[in-house]
Order: sequence, then C-alpha cells, then structure tokens
Amino acid sequence: MTKLEPLRSLKGMRDLLPAESGRWLDLTDRFRRCFEQASFGYVQTPIVEDLAVFARLGVGTDIVSKEMYDFEDKDGTRVALRPESTAGVARAFVQHHPTTPWKVWYFSQHFRHENSQKGRYRQHHQLGAECFGSSDPDIDVELIVLLWDFYRELGLRQIRLELNSIGDPESRAAYQQELTAFLRSRADRLDQVDRDKIDTHPIRVLDSKSSTTRAALQGAPTLVDVMTPESLAHFDRVKAGLAAAGVDFEVNPHLVRGLDYYTHTVFEVVSDTIDLAIGGGGRYDGLVEQLGGDPTPAFGFGAGVERILLACDAEDVFDVAPTPPVVFVIDFGGDGSDVRDLCLELRRAGLAAGRAYDQRSGRAQMKAADRSGARLGLLLGDDERAAGTVTIRDLVGDAPQVSVARADVINELRKRLT
Ligand code: HAM
Repeated sequence: MTKLEPLRSLKGMRDLLPAESGRWLDLTDRFRRCFEQASFGYVQTPIVEDLAVFARLGVGTDIVSKEMYDFEDKDGTRVALRPESTAGVARAFVQHHPTTPWKVWYFSQHFRHENSQKGRYRQHHQLGAECFGSSDPDIDVELIVLLWDFYRELGLRQIRLELNSIGDPESRAAYQQELTAFLRSRADRLDQVDRDKIDTHPIRVLDSKSSTTRAALQGAPTLVDVMTPESLAHFDRVKAGLAAAGVDFEVNPHLVRGLDYYTHTVFEVVSDTIDLAIGGGGRYDGLVEQLGGDPTPAFGFGAGVERILLACDAEDVFDVAPTPPVVFVIDFGGDGSDVRDLCLELRRAGLAAGRAYDQRSGRAQMKAADRSGARLGLLLGDDERAAGTVTIRDLVGDAPQVSVARADVINELRKRLT
C-alpha cells in the first residue's frame, strides 16, 4: 500500500507536547494560586456559543467582522467558536444569577482567523479573570495589580503597563464629536483604511498601526479633556491605587483596545522583548445589560499564554524542568512481572516510579534509568528474587548499594527520600 500523506494541524493552530505542556500546567497553577487567594473561583463556559453572544464585541471590530469562526450547526443555529471569553462568561452570569461580586478566573482557548505569525495564532489561549457587580475603581486596581504581580513572579522585568480611560458613554459621545472634527481636518494625511473609519469608528483610528496615521494624530484631542467629573474621579482613583501598590504605569491616551464593550479603565501589558501585548482588559459596565441582564458593572482581563511564554523565553526566565521519576525499577533476567508489580506498588504508595517496557536487556534498562533522571534504581535480578530482596542503587551520587527485604522497600525508600 502506498504510504499516505501525513495530516498536519491547521495553520495558526499548534499542538502542545511535553515538556512544554508541563510549563503550561505550571503557569496555570501559579495563576490559580494567585487568583484563588483573592477569592476568584474557576469558571468554564462552552467553546461554541450562539453567534449573538459575540455580536456585542462590536460589528466594526476585526474580531467580529473578519476573524470569527462562525457557521451554521446541524440544527441550523448560527454559532461561533469563541474569539474571547468575556462575552461567554457574561452570558453565563446573566443565565445563572450568581451573587455579586462574582469573581471568576479561567483558562480558555480562543479562535480568531488572523494572519498567523509568531505570537499571533488562530487558536490561542488566555488566562483571564472577570469580576461582575461592582463599579468600585478598587476592583480595577485589584485585578491589574494581581496580574502585574503574576508577571513579576514569573521573573518578567521588561514589561510595561499602559493605562487609559475611555470614560462613560456620555463622555465618549462628546469626545467622538471632537475627534471626528479633528480627523476630518487631517483626512488627507491619514492612511486610506483609517480615513474610512472617520465616520463609522473614529475612536478606532487612534489604535492605527500605520505610521502615516500615527504621525497625523499628533495633537489629537484626548478623551480626558472632555470627561465627566465621575469618569475623571474613577480614573484618578485607579491611578492612585496603582501608585500605592508600587505598580508603574504610563497613561497612553491612544489606547482604545480592539473590542467595543469597554467603559472607563482600559489597560494593556506590553512585553518589550517581543513587542506584543501579553495581557489586556478593562471595565465593561454595559455588556451584561446588552446581553439581556440587569445593569451590572464589570471589570476583567485576558492574558495570552503563548505570548507570556515567548516573553519568558526572551528574558530567559520561568524555565520549568520536567519532573523526573524518583525511582526506576530494573529487572535483570525475569519475565517482567516483578517490575510490573513493584512499579504499581510504588506508585500506589505515592512514589514517582519509572520503568522500561518490552523486556529490554538489563543494559538497556540501566541506560533508560540514567536518561530518566531518577535518583535511585531498584534492581531485581535472580539473586534478589531467590532471597526476597531488592537492591537499591544511587543513580546520581556515590552512596553504597544496599539490599533490603522486598517487604520493606517502600519504608526504606521513604526514609531515604526525606
Ligand atoms: P484581547 O486583548 O483581545 O482581549 O486578548 C487578550 C490577550 O490575549 C492579548 O493581550 C494577547 O496577549 C492574547 N492574544 C489575543 N489574540 C491573540 C492571538 N491571535 N494569538 C496569541 N495571543 C493572542 C480580550 O480577549 C478580552 N476578552 C480581555 C478582557 C477580559 N477584557 C475584559 N475582560
């Protein structure tokens, strides 16, 4: 039979294999510890949702208009693979009416049909947290500081926190008018793509990646200039809270984020080594109502796992070594039953035990034991079988080899390993 062409994962979607997967689990564990300590519970929502759940992310955003993996399922329902988690978690909040403040964290995969490149994938993962039911600016501070400390604990140093406020809808409407007039006066200096946004999404022009547009934006009015006193007070309290926590930030008046649901505080954490945002979020006081719930203020963020790890690699921090077995069982000349039984017994006793399979030669098993990184070898040969013993050999140091009764081996190992 002719050999079949092997299938490959789709463009922009990656397999996660050991030992890298160990690093992901460790990262998630750390995140979980940080957030559980601050009373966040784990939440998980479906990967596929009714398309309507994501409509509120903004029809003018790339995420909704160009990148969504949406399709009709077998019942004829328009569904989509989630491009982000906030909308699904807000939908769950509306559906289940939990008591507030509802503080949740998640680890989820997301799908965006982007032009994939390093740090930008079609399936990416986020560690995120959301808090529903409080408009207190101290919530904004709490989540930003928790995330910042999480990055710092990983060892990341070349990171920056960018902060802005996009105000309440009232402030934004006033700002939109001023900005539109400014952009019209400079329309001929803007990139064509941005010129097309003047009348539909002027605020998005601020987020432009084009250097031509960026240059033309010099002197653009800022939202802070037209903000309501309530919005200003909220922003001031957030800045004061971050300063009190010792977290440095830069106010970037052009930071608007790629999703439409934000109000008041928005932020991004940028890694200078990879020149990408490794996390971002903000307040979204109107989203719950837009999804059919009672008016409920909320705040949250998502942090890209792939990008965090790229940033860690670039700074040479958070290198997680795979955990080796503690003992490796080696069978000389038997039929493999002893190694099978002893290995299972050790694992039932809570000891990480390794072994080789397929009745390999004693030499091959010794090599496998060395490669495994195990500290101790448990040797079972004909002599041991006849005497009812096991030989313990130090595989990393030069402690003398000892023989122990088969029945005492677990106690003996526990003594040696503590
Ligand atoms: P976002 O800024 O679109 O926000 O994504 C959050 C983070 O996910 C980004 O900062 C980045 O680290 C990572 N990320 C986004 N897209 C990709 C991609 N294509 N490949 C690799 N990493 C990516 C949100 O998704 C909001 N839901 C955050 C939020 C939560 N706001 C409030 N609550």
